[in-house]
Amino acid sequence: MSISIPQLPKGTRDFYPEAQRIQNYIFDTWRSVAESFAYEEYEGPMFEHLELYTGKSGEEIVSQLYNFKDKGDREIALRPEMTPTLARLVIQKARELKKPFKWFSMPRLFRYEKAQKGRLREFFQLNMDIIGTESIYAEADLLASIATMLRKFGLKDGEFAIGVSSRKLLATYLEEIGAPNPALVYPVLDRRLKIGPEAFAKALADAGLSEDQVKKLDDFMSCKSIEEVRAAVKSENATAALAEIEDLFATLTAAGYGECVNLDLSIVRGLAYYTGIVFEVFDKGKSMRAIAGGGRYDSLTEKLGGERIPGVGFGMGDVVLADLLAEHNLLPSPKQSVDFYIASFTNDMKKVFETAQMFRDAKFGNCSVSHPLAPMKMGKQLDQANYQGAKIVVYVDGSKAGAGEFEYKDMRVGEMLVGSPDAIVERSKMNIEPKKA
Ligand code: HAM
Repeated sequence: MSISIPQLPKGTRDFYPEAQRIQNYIFDTWRSVAESFAYEEYEGPMFEHLELYTGKSGEEIVSQLYNFKDKGDREIALRPEMTPTLARLVIQKARELKKPFKWFSMPRLFRYEKAQKGRLREFFQLNMDIIGTESIYAEADLLASIATMLRKFGLKDGEFAIGVSSRKLLATYLEEIGAPNPALVYPVLDRRLKIGPEAFAKALADAGLSEDQVKKLDDFMSCKSIEEVRAAVKSENATAALAEIEDLFATLTAAGYGECVNLDLSIVRGLAYYTGIVFEVFDKGKSMRAIAGGGRYDSLTEKLGGERIPGVGFGMGDVVLADLLAEHNLLPSPKQSVDFYIASFTNDMKKVFETAQMFRDAKFGNCSVSHPLAPMKMGKQLDQANYQGAKIVVYVDGSKAGAGEFEYKDMRVGEMLVGSPDAIVERSKMNIEPKKA
């Protein structure tokens, strides 16, 4: 009987150390930028009661749920997004939490999607949200964080674009042209560019719109400037929604992010709970799926049975981001790199362990130190040191070292030296370009 080798489930990834190093680079950058904008980190469970999602997130995401009945007959779903969990956390402590507050999280999420480029069944997503204010400056803070984040990853302003739209504006326009039930219309509008003009017109006709209304909507969603939109809308609500976008853009321009944002009324977003500004981030040529998406959701806590607490935020996935960074050659080397490898000509393992421990001492600033785990020839030890990317090999029993000194080799340039532990640590911290092999 042959036993089949276990397979990786479709749409999931293994993170061998080299892949995990890249992953950690993304997590570290996410966390450091979120913290630099004074967002606080939170977490929640990886699974929730199914009903947290059904009816609140939007049809598409609900159709992609991984759900099951647990042994207590409870309907459970693996989290496909973080926003409902965040809303639940907010409702539970609605009174205690001092508002407004800014939180971030980096959850592992699960969606039963067709696995394809940029879309997996298990992925990570940075979430940054601001709870407890309706002010447009919350949006400004979030969009500035996104632009700062992408710049920190090394992307230039022209290499990504944050497209901004407004559900409020769309809703008032739908009202102006007398379109029925926006809730039915949004999912169609969201698919407009994906499905093409004919299918778009047909889906809107099915939702009860006339040919004239479809034409007007199509023209409206193609508007590329605030002036064009102003000419198209008349109601007071629409003018107010437009003024909000203008204020947002002016604020971002003042902060130096003007080049990163643009008006894009073709953005609607698939999720049902958005009520105001919505936005999506794309690579320059829109050749990839969205890097990030988000918006304002002022009635989600109410929909979930709590009091009305406004919120706005976004999710940035790791998959498209890593693809984009790889395309621009912006990912760090995935290779291991340790500070020291402690070697011994005489296989004096006790001296090796003792010296390794000394270099790990906090007074040397948390150096990473490796060494052989079994007696072996010096050639083999140097191979290991090389493989582990050691900057410096320290010989515990080199014949040229005086008292309190070690012989050592700077592997980056292949130079043999002698010095005290302090001098060796100092050398390891010097930025020395490795010699090309
Ligand atoms: P979303 O548009 O569903 O929004 O996802 C946001 C981002 O997560 C996408 O732009 C993409 O980068 C990534 N993403 C989504 N699905 C997948 C997938 N199957 N594989 C890989 N990456 C994926 C939300 O999830 C909202 N809850 C965001 C939000 C937070 N809104 C307000 N606060």
